[in-house]
Amino acid sequence: MSGGADPHSMPSRISRVVLLVILASLCAFNGTCQSLHKTNAVEATMYDPDPGHVANRLYRALYTWKGDDEATPSHWPRQKVVYDGASLKSLLDELMQLNVAKDFPDPIKRVFLQRDLWLAFDWLAQQPALAGGEIPVIQRKLARAIQHVALPLAQLRQLPDNYEEQLGTDAFPIEFDHGAPNAPFLPAGLFARAGSWIMVGDSDTRGVLTMQHLDFFRGHDAYMVFVRLPAGRAATIAFLNNLTTAAKGHSKLPALPEGSQMALVSQVMAVDDKCMPFPTTITENVQIRVYRQPNDSLTKTPDAQSRFEFRLDRAALFAHKAITLRPVGAKETDWQSINYLGTKKGDSDNKAAIMGSCIDCHDEPGAESFKTFSQMRAARAQIRPMGVSKRSDEVGRAVTWKQHQFDFQLLRDFWAQ
Ligand code: HEC
Repeated sequence: MSGGADPHSMPSRISRVVLLVILASLCAFNGTCQSLHKTNAVEATMYDPDPGHVANRLYRALYTWKGDDEATPSHWPRQKVVYDGASLKSLLDELMQLNVAKDFPDPIKRVFLQRDLWLAFDWLAQQPALAGGEIPVIQRKLARAIQHVALPLAQLRQLPDNYEEQLGTDAFPIEFDHGAPNAPFLPAGLFARAGSWIMVGDSDTRGVLTMQHLDFFRGHDAYMVFVRLPAGRAATIAFLNNLTTAAKGHSKLPALPEGSQMALVSQVMAVDDKCMPFPTTITENVQIRVYRQPNDSLTKTPDAQSRFEFRLDRAALFAHKAITLRPVGAKETDWQSINYLGTKKGDSDNKAAIMGSCIDCHDEPGAESFKTFSQMRAARAQIRPMGVSKRSDEVGRAVTWKQHQFDFQLLRDFWAQ
């Protein structure tokens, strides 16, 4: 992983992971462990009103890492995954008997069931194969299942744009309110072609900018970074240019004016019926930071930046509701490994406040806390220029990245068999 991983914590982390994997494997293959998973009513009928529907049972079997009854599952398994290999195999066999076109036709649900299966597949791809173990057997069944629920391109292209739909509801303000700096807002016009928000891209090498997120979540989302200075589009573009020039010349970074805003948007990746990653228009997560006192760090001045996050509510999306992105509350928690993208406190088995995490990575004043930029500068000798990009370019880079990953090539191998 590039960027913030602390190399000093790696040995203990690896040994812990290995231990957990061994534990998980013992549980999986001897069937001796009880799953700690509990489900609430919404979850038990996530995919179908019938709790006995194979999609619901698979969902419960695969999401064993979820410990909080109330929240929607996090989209990346913690290392400590406990599952029952025998029942998973029989559920996967059962899914193959399902006539998906007739009995599981909803394209949105198919994308998400596929995603649950794909996460499990990629999680397994990261585990050391035990000699004579069952992992390849389960992987083959998972690959078949991923293929079984896959949609053709024509249908994937028609999936809704839930972000856009939600903007039509007036559920949240579309602008930051300086008078209510902690009131969540969902910015409008991020994707407008000549608007005030600039989607940032590497205009030189055309590489992926959001490497930490893409890598940690194994390319199951495509990420887009947006910047907006209060003075508008031209000023924002000039700022990005100045930033690149200053970094290249090792001179002082340009000042970030008060009121500057940044956003990180992730959209769900699917696998089409030809085994190609497809970036859907379903937004899963939106993070926003607004610089109120750009010369201060968050440690010094907790109000230096307003922080917001919106997460996809799966049940609302499945119910075809117009409001599917809900703001993360101040006390809402998630696994530390998710909050910290697998780094630092990511070793911890605990949950902690999601909104409490931002300070650890975006603490510094002004442009130094613009991570897309500062981590690139920290990680590579060569500064890649940041310019204006567009959705098709950014999501395309995520697709290319995923296609070249070992876990995707493994999926392809099983798919072709
Ligand atoms: C583990 C460190 C970490 C934590 C915690 C974290 N971020 Fe980030 N964030 C990053 C990195 C790294 C990037 C750059 C993109 C990449 O490489 O994935 C980023 C990018 C962003 C961006 C796009 C602009 C930029 O700075 O590049 C926004 C907006 C953002 N994060 C908001 C938040 C909010 C809000 C929180 C808290 C809920 C948060 N982040 C928590 C590491 C973190």
